[in-house]
Amino acid sequence: MDTLIVVATMTGTAEMVGEDVQAAIGAERSRMVLAERAQLEDLDGVETLLLVSSTYGKGEVPEPAKPFYAMLEAAARLPALARFGVIGLGDRSLYPETFAQGGQQWDRLLHSRGIVRASAPLLIDCSTCQDLSDTSIAWVKGWLREAMTEGSR
Ligand SMILES: Cc1cc2nc3c(=O)[nH]c(=O)nc-3n(C[C@H](O)[C@H](O)[C@H](O)COP(=O)(O)O)c2cc1C
Repeated sequence: MDTLIVVATMTGTAEMVGEDVQAAIGAERSRMVLAERAQLEDLDGVETLLLVSSTYGKGEVPEPAKPFYAMLEAAARLPALARFGVIGLGDRSLYPETFAQGGQQWDRLLHSRGIVRASAPLLIDCSTCQDLSDTSIAWVKGWLREAMTEGSR
């Protein structure tokens, strides 16, 4: 199964998580791209799409990721993808009102574009989580299992 990991980050935390997740899945079965470099063509031939995104502003996706978000929103038709999943990073202690809403935005967008969600998003509180990558890798393993079976919600 071919997984594309799209990383939406400002200061690199989501990128670190994306890299560790990619290493766990294996380079032959996955590819990672920063959202600011991502194009719709990157989705061609991809079976599972994983968004790893932090949150900024008033619960928004990071600024550099906004063009790709808009591309997904505006595309007349997206390539057929089997499943998607989202890992959303945020800080609940500083931003309780908008905790991890960047990830939630991707989740809502992809769902609204007709792509099937495998597993509810993993939302990680970076103010307390000591093992971001381990937590993410454990979730991704379950997500991929779900994506390979019926797994839709
Ligand atoms: C200016 C600023 C605004 C932020 N806004 C939010 C927010 O609205 N909600 C939230 O959950 N986290 C918010 N965060 C926390 C970041 O999403 C969190 O620190 C994340 O781990 C950063 O990931 P990154 O290094 O991949 O950009 C904010 C952080 C900063 C510096």
